[in-house]
Amino acid sequence: MTCISRSVAETEQIGLELGQRLGPGTVVAYRGGLGMGKTAFTRGLAKGLGCRDRVTSPTFTIVNEYQGRLPLFHFDMYRLCCADELFDLGWEDYLARGGVCAVEWSENVIEALEDPIWVRIDRDPGGDEGRLITVTGGRLHEDPGP
Ligand SMILES: Nc1ncnc2c1ncn2[C@@H]1O[C@H](COP(=O)(O)OP(=O)(O)O)[C@@H](O)[C@H]1O
Ligand SMILES: [Mg+2]
Repeated sequence: MTCISRSVAETEQIGLELGQRLGPGTVVAYRGGLGMGKTAFTRGLAKGLGCRDRVTSPTFTIVNEYQGRLPLFHFDMYRLCCADELFDLGWEDYLARGGVCAVEWSENVIEALEDPIWVRIDRDPGGDEGRLITVTGGRLHEDPGP
């Protein structure tokens, strides 16, 4: 699925709609450079999971935790060199807790990711605030319909 976001609010809304559909144990792996909106998307994802706390960037903490319908673990792998460092952080314990792991800079730990949902965010040539958001892979929960 590819959609266009024209503002930070639209990116959050797309994240929210995905968050509503995620099941336990899902990994959401972002691709997309600095300032593309990975943290903004995660803010929406958190809302969609029913997390009420404000989402802030985990750049310095590496992982932030939120409690909602499912727990959300928001990772920023920017400063990690490789999957080994991720396992040292207890990655498998996070996976085992049955939450959703949202992973910024997933390219740094790509070997650790099994069957994630990929969220790719690119600049849309249409304008400064435009983003192309492509969601692929994983096993999304069936949409129950109306
Ligand atoms: N369509 C858009 N979607 C998301 N963010 C946008 C958009 N247009 C402009 N922005 C701005 O881009 C920045 C994205 O920041 P952030 O979510 O922290 O990015 P990242 O985590 O990818 O580095 C914010 O300052 C936001 O206001
Ligand atoms: Mg970020």
